[in-house]
Amino acid sequence: MSGREFIPLSIPSIDEETISEVCKVLRSGWLTTGAITERFEQDLADYLGASCVMTTTSGTAGIHLAIVAVGIEPESEIITTPFTFVATANAIVHAGCVPVFADIDPNTLNISPKAIEEKITHKTKAIIPVHYAGVPADIDDVYKIAQTYNLRVIEDCAHAFGASYKNKRIGSFGDVQVFSFHPIKNITTGEGGCVVLRNEQEQDLFARMRFHGINRSIWDRFKKQSGRLDYDVVCPGYKFNMSDIQSAIGIHQLKKVDEMNNRRRALVARYSSAFENWNKIFIPDKALYEYTRSGHLFPVIVNLEKIKLSRDEIIIALKKRNIGSIAYYYPLHIFTYYREKFGYAVNDFPEAENAGAKVLCLPLYPDMTDDQQDFVIDAFRAILEE
Ligand SMILES: Cc1ncc(COP(=O)(O)O)c(C=O)c1O
Repeated sequence: MSGREFIPLSIPSIDEETISEVCKVLRSGWLTTGAITERFEQDLADYLGASCVMTTTSGTAGIHLAIVAVGIEPESEIITTPFTFVATANAIVHAGCVPVFADIDPNTLNISPKAIEEKITHKTKAIIPVHYAGVPADIDDVYKIAQTYNLRVIEDCAHAFGASYKNKRIGSFGDVQVFSFHPIKNITTGEGGCVVLRNEQEQDLFARMRFHGINRSIWDRFKKQSGRLDYDVVCPGYKFNMSDIQSAIGIHQLKKVDEMNNRRRALVARYSSAFENWNKIFIPDKALYEYTRSGHLFPVIVNLEKIKLSRDEIIIALKKRNIGSIAYYYPLHIFTYYREKFGYAVNDFPEAENAGAKVLCLPLYPDMTDDQQDFVIDAFRAILEE
């Protein structure tokens, strides 16, 4: 075991200003959705270049509610990638729909537009691409397919806060975008998420469904000046609203996000140049279109033919050297629930399975020092060269 402090896969950057702002909310007498959340939503809209952004308790809740708000009926098929966190597919199931997987492009590990087209049936109503690791999916091609077949696109942007595609910020264009503010993400609120919707009716439905189907926000009903106490329940909604405590964290995270993402991108560039032309790994960032990554994760595909260890043995060896790493992701179609409920089987999505067996994410977070990264680079090289 090395004498060095553990270098985790990720750690959020929370400064003293954020902590004191959270304390202010705690002392204010209003903890749940209120003025601070309204401000966070406005700040998010300004940053993303969107007219309306609505916060939620999580990215998962955001995807679920976005599916409902855009009017996709239960039992509809929604095409997504099997190479994502299970939240993406679970949200489809929670909305009563059927997750239909389409294989990935091995160059980016993002959903393959060609594979999407092969999965379209008369029941298909939407596509949920995931911008894996913060490298945008092939957005133009996904939207072209959506237009041809009259499908909605709900982008799972959990990894992509601050990323852009062809010089346009993710969240500023397209149909629907959903972000996550889980602590591993580019900005965090502890737990939380947000959704960008562009149609006013869908925004109204989303706002109502986010809070029990009540037609007036709790903040509107209690705020001192304009509060009206009466309300109606127009549908059986959920309880997916963000608290002002979380929003206070988010407001400060947002102020620092460009700085944090620049550091993430610099670390990605350092990893990439350290591992350039090294035949023991492949770095899956070979998109053919122009993009700016968010720098959410640094995944590599290990070349098992040229290494004595399995991917999991590499993770254990890194851990022994006090380095955290993770296999993101195990393809969803292999999990028991998805096999048993939807009839998926091993070999259904060879590219996702190949990536699932070989992928490994190395530590990456804004406060990581060059020295810590050099330690990871040297350890990783030594383990794979053994
Ligand atoms: C790709 C992807 N989609 C969705 C989610 C769900 O986000 P949350 O954890 O905020 O519910 C995550 C979070 O880990 C994710 O990585």
